[in-house]
Amino acid sequence: MDVADLRRRVAANDGWYHTIELPGGVLTPGQVDLRTSAPKLLPQSLGGQRALDVGTFDGFWAFELERRGATVVAIDVAELDHAQWPPLNRPRLLRQAADWNMQLGRGFAIAHGALGSSVQRVISDVYDVTPETIGGPVDVVFAGAIMVHLRDPVRALEALLGCLKPGGQLIQMEHFSLRNTLLSPRRPTGDFQPLRSEFNWMLANLSLLKAWPWAAGFTDVQRIGFLRPPSSNPMTGWYVGLRSRKAA
Ligand SMILES: C[S@@+](CC[C@H](N)C(=O)[O-])C[C@H]1O[C@@H](n2cnc3c(N)ncnc32)[C@H](O)[C@@H]1O
Repeated sequence: MDVADLRRRVAANDGWYHTIELPGGVLTPGQVDLRTSAPKLLPQSLGGQRALDVGTFDGFWAFELERRGATVVAIDVAELDHAQWPPLNRPRLLRQAADWNMQLGRGFAIAHGALGSSVQRVISDVYDVTPETIGGPVDVVFAGAIMVHLRDPVRALEALLGCLKPGGQLIQMEHFSLRNTLLSPRRPTGDFQPLRSEFNWMLANLSLLKAWPWAAGFTDVQRIGFLRPPSSNPMTGWYVGLRSRKAA
């Protein structure tokens, strides 16, 4: 492997979302560094299991699942603009995306090649994902930092439930409102953000984040822990890890 060439290709992509360690000591300059979060949320070993990473972006979670032995499929929309961003601020979003020169799939391809990864990246909206579109049902679904971007989180979670084998698990890492969690520890509430945000629909409190998978038909929804990954992203803040199951 030509490390100098890899460094050049990494530097030529100015829209990295994930910090990813590549061979030769090359580190991608991501907005979010999840390296210390992964061991807190993912099982140590996933040998012989199939996994799905939802909204993979540069693929950090897909590569972490693969590193633990899983056969991994990763889904994302084709272009940033294909997600369900709130219409009011869409022109601002498109200007910002152009300024950032952000292209979904470009970072993933660089990291995938450098790591010699076998992760299969499939273009699919989370609402449309089925076992057929990802080559069969999976044992584990990882869905990170995506609920806040969806108009209908429960419909998306229903689609993910449909991709799991009986007894399979969903692992989530989601941004949440600390303030609304303290104000309403037991009542699901959401902060509706499309009037001010380009990206966000509903910033949930912890109770709402846990209510969504229950409402979609998951069982045994559990909090794994709170996380605050290093980040230069406007989404900097508190995240929670959750684990839910599909009934066996
Ligand atoms: C904030 S990034 C999170 C990336 C990664 N999942 C993580 O946890 O670090 C959101 C990702 O979800 C993707 N996304 C947004 N809406 C989506 C949808 N409706 N279907 C599939 N992917 C979507 C975006 O394209 C982007 O890759």
